[in-house]
Amino acid sequence: MSEVIKQQGLTGNPVRTSTPSIDSPKAQLGMLLFFNKALSGNLDVACASCHHPLLGGGDNLSLSVGVDAADPDLLGHGRVVGGNQAIGVPRNAPTTFNIGLWQQVMFHDGRVAQVTDGITTPDKDFPRVDPLAGRNLVHAQARFPITSVAEMRGKQFDKHGTAQSCREALAGRLGGYQKAPKALQKAATRYWLDAFRQAYNSPTASPKALITEQNIAEVLAEYQRSQVFVNNPWRSYINGDLDAINTTAKQGALLFFKGRDQGGYACASCHRGDFFTDEGFHNILLPPLGPGKAAQEGGATQLDLGRFLVTQREEDKFRFRTPSLLNVEVTGPWGHNGAYTSLDAMVAHMLHPFNGAIYYDSAQLRQPNVQTQHLRENIREILRSNSDLSGQGYEEQHVRQLVAFLQTLTDPCTRKKECIGKWVPTAERQDPMGLQLNARFSD
Ligand code: HEC
Ligand code: HEC
Repeated sequence: MSEVIKQQGLTGNPVRTSTPSIDSPKAQLGMLLFFNKALSGNLDVACASCHHPLLGGGDNLSLSVGVDAADPDLLGHGRVVGGNQAIGVPRNAPTTFNIGLWQQVMFHDGRVAQVTDGITTPDKDFPRVDPLAGRNLVHAQARFPITSVAEMRGKQFDKHGTAQSCREALAGRLGGYQKAPKALQKAATRYWLDAFRQAYNSPTASPKALITEQNIAEVLAEYQRSQVFVNNPWRSYINGDLDAINTTAKQGALLFFKGRDQGGYACASCHRGDFFTDEGFHNILLPPLGPGKAAQEGGATQLDLGRFLVTQREEDKFRFRTPSLLNVEVTGPWGHNGAYTSLDAMVAHMLHPFNGAIYYDSAQLRQPNVQTQHLRENIREILRSNSDLSGQGYEEQHVRQLVAFLQTLTDPCTRKKECIGKWVPTAERQDPMGLQLNARFSD
C-alpha cells in the first residue's frame, strides 16, 4: 500500500488554501444568514433548508425542495412541495462540507469556474469572466441560489428583474433601505444592521454601505469555507497509524487506486489526489430522473444535459463534475440527481455504469414524487451517448471492500452533534421576526 500512496502522491491533507475559523466574526454572521429565511423572496427558505450541517451539509433528499414546501421548517424525507406541485429543483444538493477546497469549479456542471483572469458565472456568456464574482469560488457561488426561482426566489419576487436586481432587492430589504415585497419589520432590519456592523467592525456604517449583496455573499462564503472536515481514519493511516483502518478497507483502497492492469478499478484516475477529484467532467451514465435541465426551457423532458449546458459542446452532453469523496458516507443520496440511495448501489454503478443504467431500479428512491415517467426512454438515450466509463465485470465482494474504504474518508466530527453543532446557530439566537430556520427532521 505504501507504494500506491507514494505513486499517487498522497499526504492525507487536501487543504491547499487558508480557510477561516467558524469563530471568526464574518463566519458567525454568515452562519446567521445561512440559516435565515429572510434571504428568500417569500421568507420561506434558507440556505440551510438544503445544506444542513446535521444532514451532511445536504438535505438527505434525491432532489431538493426549496420554495413552496408544505412545511418550510421540516427537513428530511417529509419535506415535500405543497399544493400538489411537482418538484422544481432538477439536481441533488451537494454538500457544503470542504467547499473551500475546490480550486476550479462549483456546481455539478461547473458553471461557476476559476479561470486565469477571474471567475466565470452564468451572469456572463461563457467563458467571459464576471467582474462581480467576488474573491473566491464560494463567494461567486453564493450569489446564485437567491436568484433561483425554484430554490429561494419564488415566482413573484422581483418578477421581471434580472439576477442582479433580485440580489439588490433582497439586500435592500434586509437592510431596510429599499422598498421590496414582504418588507421586514424595523426590529429585524435593526438586528441585521447591528450584526453587520459588528462583523465588519464598522459601528457607524449605514445599512446601504454595509448590507450589500456583495457583503452578504462574502459572509455566506466565510461561513461555508469554515466547514473543513478532513480529519478521517484514512488520513491517520497515511500518516503512519496502520491500525486506523481495517483489512476490508485496505483491500478496498487497493482496488480504488490500482490500475486495471494491476487488478484494480482505477477510481483514482478521476477521484484523484487527497481531495478525491480531478475537478473534471465525465459521463458515467447516471440514470436521468427528476424534472431535468435542458438547453431550452420546455425542451427535452427529464434529461439533464450537464456540462453541455455551459459549453454547448456536443461531447459534454451528460458530463458532470467528479465529486470529492471526502465524507461521502454522510452526503447521500448520491449522484447529481440522487438516483442512488445507498452507497453500495452507487459504487456498484461506478464499477459497471452500463449495467447500472440498464438495470436501474427507481423503487430505491425514498422521496415521494420524483419524476420518473420518462426514465426508460431517457436511459436508452444516455446509453447511446459517449460514456467516459463503460465498466467491466467485477466480484461482488469488491463493492463491500470499496464501500469500507470510502467509509474511512468520514471525519467523525460530521456525525457528532456536539462537534458539528458549532456550525448550527442555537435557537436562542432567533431574530426578532422568527425567520431563523430551527429545523425539525423527519426520518
Ligand atoms: C432548494 C434547495 C437549495 C437551497 C435553498 C440552496 N441550495 Fe445550494 N445547491 C442546491 C442544489 C440542488 C445545488 C446543485 C445545483 C447545480 O449543480 O446545478 C446547490 C449547489 C450549491 C453549492 C455548490 C456546491 C458544489 O459542490 O459545487 C454551494 C456552495 C451552495 N449550493 C451553497 C448555497 C448557499 C450559500 C445557499 C443560500 C444562499 C444555497 N446553497 C441555497 C440546493 C439548494
Ligand atoms: C471516468 C471518471 C470516473 C471514474 C473512473 C470513477 N468515477 Fe466515481 N464519479 C465520477 C463522476 C463524474 C461522478 C458524478 C456523476 C454524476 O453525478 O452524474 C462520480 C460519482 C461517484 C460517487 C457518488 C459521489 C456523490 O457524492 O454523489 C461515488 C461514491 C463514486 N463516484 C465512486 C467511485 C468508485 C468507487 C470508482 C471506482 C470503482 C469510481 N467512482 C470511478 C467519475 C468517475
